[in-house]
Amino acid sequence: MAGNRTFTMIKPDAVKAGHIGAILAKINEAGFRIVAMKLTKLSPEKAGEFYEIHKERPFYGELVEFMSSGPIVAAVLEKENAVESFRELIGATDPSKAAPGTIRALFAKSIGENAVHGADSDENAVREASFHFAATEMF
Ligand code: RTP
Ligand code: MG
Repeated sequence: MAGNRTFTMIKPDAVKAGHIGAILAKINEAGFRIVAMKLTKLSPEKAGEFYEIHKERPFYGELVEFMSSGPIVAAVLEKENAVESFRELIGATDPSKAAPGTIRALFAKSIGENAVHGADSDENAVREASFHFAATEMF
């Protein structure tokens, strides 16, 4: 999927707040095609494994607790230059620094509870997509 696919999650804060539909509308309007999607919940073990890359960061414990606190929407999205284009659509990690109109500016509460995840490289997009979906679940 090099170059044209990314992986996203609508995080527990945004699911809880009822923002799934509005966020999917933004993703749709931005021209992404949905390749795979599900409503699911991460166990603390699975959340820890997903964010293993941040294991040494001071916020790791909090992040794992938050990401396993409620249901999430996991999805694989397709568009030219998908990873970069999607990170532009979601805005900065800290919503107070996110550009107006971005998903985090619109829906995120704080740097920790920031509404959506976006893969940060083609390699991680592939890893994260296959973490959540079997090849037969991606269309
Ligand atoms: P993400 O991976 O979720 O798309 O977010 P990101 O690339 O913009 O940010 P990253 O540095 O990868 O951090 C992953 C997630 O950890 C939480 N975080 N909390 N309390 C803090 O200072 C802090 N910093 C990061 C956020 O949920 C962030 O999205
Ligand atoms: Mg990241």
